[in-house]
Amino acid sequence: MNTGTSISTPAEHVREQKPLDILVVDDHPVTRTLLTMRLKKWGHRVTEAENGNAAWLILRSKPIQMVITDWMMPEFDGIELTRKIRTEIRSPYIYIIVVSALDSKPDVLKGLQAGIDDYLVKPIDFDHLQARIAIGKRILEVEKTLIEQYETIQHNYFQTIRMFTQLMEAFDEELGGHCRRVGKLAKTLGMMHPNVKPADWGTLETAGFLHDIGMIGLPKEIVHKRETEMTGDEKQLYRGHPIQGELILAEIETLKPISRLVRCHHEQINGKGFPDGLKGDEIPLLARIVGAASIYDSLQHKRKLSLEAIPEQLMLLKGYRIEPQLVEMLLEINRQQIIHEQNAFSIELSIEELKEGMVLADHIRRPNGALVLSKDTRLSAFTIATLKRFADIAAIENRISVYRTLP
Ligand SMILES: [Fe+2]
Repeated sequence: MNTGTSISTPAEHVREQKPLDILVVDDHPVTRTLLTMRLKKWGHRVTEAENGNAAWLILRSKPIQMVITDWMMPEFDGIELTRKIRTEIRSPYIYIIVVSALDSKPDVLKGLQAGIDDYLVKPIDFDHLQARIAIGKRILEVEKTLIEQYETIQHNYFQTIRMFTQLMEAFDEELGGHCRRVGKLAKTLGMMHPNVKPADWGTLETAGFLHDIGMIGLPKEIVHKRETEMTGDEKQLYRGHPIQGELILAEIETLKPISRLVRCHHEQINGKGFPDGLKGDEIPLLARIVGAASIYDSLQHKRKLSLEAIPEQLMLLKGYRIEPQLVEMLLEINRQQIIHEQNAFSIELSIEELKEGMVLADHIRRPNGALVLSKDTRLSAFTIATLKRFADIAAIENRISVYRTLP
């Protein structure tokens, strides 16, 4: 017989019992204490604040999932607190319930427009409050799931980028190394540049990793030549690589913004670059940055100039191939590299001793010479786990050379 009672699975039961971190804000001590006692009885972890200012300090110092606040408080009221939360705390989402004696339509509307999620009229009906908290909890769980799914998509995106870079490395080790370094350098330049938003730092790194993907398939002698040494036919093939790269990447929807940057990475601010002969601001800023990073890396690794010899070459390129502001940034990076090189020496560690953030001082190869990780790679938990797997099957040696910087 159907009794109408739903049966929850053990997992759902656990979820329902999971306590929330709730902040109770009320300037009236008795109301605050009564509410806190009831919430604790329901199993939640509760913090109390006597006004909006105290609440804000708590919100900045500990994780809070839900705020239950009085509206009318001296100085900093519940609606002001709501506006501040919505403006300054983007993630994770905080669910806000306002409790007030004000219940006219304009008042409720004002609260909703400020960003509250729910509204209860005083005196508080605790059965009602418990039901509203359950609604908030479901919304917070949906938000958490969305964040987890977004992180999975991000992870897959970076796996795709990693696959492309491995493809380049398999085609040509030097080209792969160049692209890895340009990705890192382009991101560093973006972080220094006043007009690049933090949201674009990842785009710059990805565009740097992939900027020469159109070189795959070109004859090796072209890949390693300087343009000034190429024959007419070779130059024509070489000059097609930004468009080839754009075509490869534009096939993947999420990489379309990157494909535009890849197309433009050989444009020059004097209009004498290729493939489109764009000038100055016609070239997207992020493409100008990737192009500058690529030139710097080529000076160091293709022309094999010493770090000390690079500034003179940068000054020759200033204002016609690279814009002055980016040259100044590259000069600063060059100064830091010189200092780092003077203070850094390498040590050998076993794989068990490796830690995230350490930088490889040498390539790691398999016995057949195939590259596993290139010099200057900053180790992450993922790369360390990969090295352990390789060592377990004796595919690499258990001694790894990393930089150790002197204080
Ligand atoms: Fe290129």
